[in-house]
Amino acid sequence: MDSEKPGSAVSKPLAGIVMGSQSDWEVMQHAAQSLADFGVPYAARALSAHRTPDLLLEWVDELVKQGAKCFIAGAGGAAHLAGVVAARTTLPVLGVPIPSRHLQGLDSLLSMVQMPRGVPVATFAIGDAGAANAGLFAVAMLALEDAQLAKKLTDFRKKQADTIAAVKLPEPK
Ligand code: RP5
Repeated sequence: MDSEKPGSAVSKPLAGIVMGSQSDWEVMQHAAQSLADFGVPYAARALSAHRTPDLLLEWVDELVKQGAKCFIAGAGGAAHLAGVVAARTTLPVLGVPIPSRHLQGLDSLLSMVQMPRGVPVATFAIGDAGAANAGLFAVAMLALEDAQLAKKLTDFRKKQADTIAAVKLPEPK
């Protein structure tokens, strides 16, 4: 999956989106959508820290080689995926805790946010909002060195603010 033609490899992804399972895509597509909305090329894969450890590390290395600037990692349960990615690269890693069946994502959040000192993972909110915000945060980081992207981000924020400001609340019943 990539931001230009779904299903084919994008040549120079600026962000790598990885998730532990295909079942995480429902949430992680919101990170992909944020990047796509701003025209940021990304590569997305389902790769697992415990099911496909070698493939995961190869993929991280390959994206770093291609010039990626950050990774977004989503996982559920004992969510060590983002930590493993962060162990492999010094690029910023943004973690998205996936809602889990038994603990509703609290397990994912705590296992991701409680990284021991020295190898950080910037952890976002559980679920869709966290995924969308991880994408927006990646855009904000890339915008530090891209004036056009910075302008798009400012415009996005303004549109969002205008929408709220224009809300007309109904009369009380
Ligand atoms: C984690 O286990 C994945 O990130 C996913 O959130 C969770 C469940 O995976 P599946 O059993 O749906 O493949 O590794």
